[in-house]
Amino acid sequence: MNEATRTAAALPSNTVAVLLREARDRLNDISDAPALEGEGLLLHVLNRAETSWLLAHGEHELTARQHEQFEVLMKRRMTGEPLAYVIGEWEFCGRKFMVNRDVLIPRPSTENLIDKTIQYLDKNRPFRTPYVIADVGTGSGCIAVTLACELARILNHEFGNMNFVATDISRAALDVAKHNAARHGVLDQIEFIVGDMLAPLEMQQVDLIVSNPPYVPAAELSLVNKKKESAGLGFEPKLALDGGLDGKRYVEVIKQSGTKAIIETVGGEIEEIG
Ligand SMILES: C[S@@+](CC[C@H](N)C(=O)[O-])C[C@H]1O[C@@H](n2cnc3c(N)ncnc32)[C@H](O)[C@@H]1O
Repeated sequence: MNEATRTAAALPSNTVAVLLREARDRLNDISDAPALEGEGLLLHVLNRAETSWLLAHGEHELTARQHEQFEVLMKRRMTGEPLAYVIGEWEFCGRKFMVNRDVLIPRPSTENLIDKTIQYLDKNRPFRTPYVIADVGTGSGCIAVTLACELARILNHEFGNMNFVATDISRAALDVAKHNAARHGVLDQIEFIVGDMLAPLEMQQVDLIVSNPPYVPAAELSLVNKKKESAGLGFEPKLALDGGLDGKRYVEVIKQSGTKAIIETVGGEIEEIG
């Protein structure tokens, strides 16, 4: 028995050290990072941000209400529901985004899409004004909101007149995106339009499409739930994932638009078009 285990063994069952140890053991079968996820759940319940606080306060006792909430969240996670949905938010490019089961959980590969877009814009100044960027299939709004925040920071002095349009076929997803835009102070810079792919943009002059459309090939989607590493996908909206037979159905629609585009495509590859 090591020191940490011996210490936890002597503590009441509602203490941070005991709950962390139990969470790690209970999540072991469904998670590749059970200790980290246990910490994430506990931080959420305690409304704290730093893991270092947990490690320094192993003897801290949760209230009965917190303990109960932790148990409810643990049970949800143990069904395979992704941590992001269980805690209701996820980090993307250093900002927290509200997520629920109406939207895709933002992926690290999409952070590359943001980097590529900023590099492209940085290289291709000057822009015409107003310069309009469309995020097609915005989901949580992570692309449009991040670009609005980052471009204001990086380019504002030269080009304040940058406008954003965020579209999605799901009204519920757009509600989440609007919430996230308000949370990050860019609600006024983004126009949100519900509709099918490029249809909402017909009346707009769009200079650049930045999009992470659904691109999971149908065959891969049918394997969801059968493999541990993709089981979480079963909780995400099929609408956000299903890219047709080869995963390229929506990618092709964007390619044929003739508008300059930077998109994420099959396998998380970033493609520049036009
Ligand atoms: C892969 S998710 C990307 C979400 C978000 N942009 C991100 O990167 O996390 C694709 C999004 O496209 C939306 N979508 C699916 N079919 C669509 C369509 N025909 N027209 C517009 N949006 C669609 C889904 O609702 C989903 O929000």
